Amino acid sequence: MKRPRVLVVDDEKLLRWSWAQRLEREGYEAVQCETASDGIARLETEEFNLLLLDFKLPDMDGLEVLRRISPKELDLPVIMITAHSTLENAVEAMKLGASDFLAKPVDLDVLLLAVRRTLESTDLAREVHRIRVDEKERFGFGNIVGRSPSMLQIFDLMSRVAASGSATVLIQGESGTGKDVVARAIHYASLRAERPLVTVTCTAIPEPLLENELMGHEKGAFTDAKTMKKGLLELADGGTVFLDEIGDLPMALQAKLLRFLEDKSFKRVGGTRDITVDARIIAATNKDLASAVREGRFRSDFYYRLNVISLHLSPLRERREDIPPLAEHFLEKMNREFKKDVRGIAEDAMRVLLQYAWPGNVRELRNVLERAIILGRDQSIGLDDLPSDLLAPVQAPEGTLLRLPPGGLDVTALEKDLLVQALRLTGGNQTAAGRLLGLNRDQIHYRIEKFQIDLGPSSS
Ligand SMILES: Nc1ncnc2c1ncn2[C@@H]1O[C@H](COP(=O)(O)OP(=O)(O)OP(=O)(O)O)[C@@H](O)[C@H]1O
Ligand SMILES: [Mg+2]
Repeated sequence: MKRPRVLVVDDEKLLRWSWAQRLEREGYEAVQCETASDGIARLETEEFNLLLLDFKLPDMDGLEVLRRISPKELDLPVIMITAHSTLENAVEAMKLGASDFLAKPVDLDVLLLAVRRTLESTDLAREVHRIRVDEKERFGFGNIVGRSPSMLQIFDLMSRVAASGSATVLIQGESGTGKDVVARAIHYASLRAERPLVTVTCTAIPEPLLENELMGHEKGAFTDAKTMKKGLLELADGGTVFLDEIGDLPMALQAKLLRFLEDKSFKRVGGTRDITVDARIIAATNKDLASAVREGRFRSDFYYRLNVISLHLSPLRERREDIPPLAEHFLEKMNREFKKDVRGIAEDAMRVLLQYAWPGNVRELRNVLERAIILGRDQSIGLDDLPSDLLAPVQAPEGTLLRLPPGGLDVTALEKDLLVQALRLTGGNQTAAGRLLGLNRDQIHYRIEKFQIDLGPSSS
């Protein structure tokens, strides 16, 4: 690894030299300059990881140097060193991009510590920035695929919501329809993208702990509360809180969160002070909240506060035109991930994908394709790469299935009833009745005995 390069600009030769010596010994490369203009010239032509800058130099003062080099643009951390540190200078220097301030006489260990910390935090800041850019890419709109009218409408709503700043959003849809991806994309497309997205899965935290997790607690709120702890809502300040599986939130907590939805403020557990947080709330659920409200399982006031902007993700079976582009998207993604080179999906396999009901929606489609890509031996996905339940011919076209009464069905009674009807229709001719029901004479006979059907005097 390359040694970090530190530029030391100070007019006091002995100081400069001793700092450089120490830095070199600790594994840095130290370059020395006596004047500001010298230093600026080096910065213009060479790359440095850190600048140690004396405040008072013969040709100009440190603030002037900062103005000329604009460390923020150079992405260069600067530690200012000064004999006459006034607060005003420090504030000004910080505004101009200085990272730290050390007062002369500088202890060498302190200097070293400052150098190390500054470099580490710059690395950290870069890492965080890189992750955010990465996340924006990974979770942005570009990763949501769909061309059906209902998805186009979702895209349109999403971009308007993202631009809206802080309006509360409720995303509803069956499991696997993409509620998570939509929530994340809204966050990363909004101005809040540089701030945290805090996800709370309402079912994942046991109820007694949830309030504490969300709102935090004050020191001494309960026996184990040795220190104050911020809750997740507070950590999301400036960003987004994603309340997933909100339909499973217990009523008592709905009441506690209602106030937060109303004016974005709450009290920590055991606290008296109101804490206000600037965060957008996105909630998601695969439950039908409107009927939960009707049935008294969900507070109506909470529901109305959540349901400011409503996004409904349709089940995949109601937007089959999204299947081919989704399949292509997953194929491309998984080829990359698993280092495979599957080119496409055979026509008969695609026909099956288009016809299947997808109870698990997009997630199920993704899993099916993942399995096919990992296990498949051919260049393209064929019928034999698909799990057998997709191929089962039980696929009744929509709407033709018997509607079952809520109490269930008595199949035995139904069978007897059908038999009696068939016999009546055929005037008691067992062979003819059997033909109507797809049963042979023996099978009919067996059932007449079983149900003790009285055939009357005219029977054959
Ligand atoms: N429109 C889409 N484009 C691309 N990928 C999608 C899309 N919709 C869903 N997915 C993918 O399908 C999977 C399931 O999506 P997601 O987790 O968002 O579903 P969900 O609605 O939150 O489900 P659950 O109710 O079970 O939490 C994820 O891998 C996601 O990346
Ligand atoms: Mg989800």
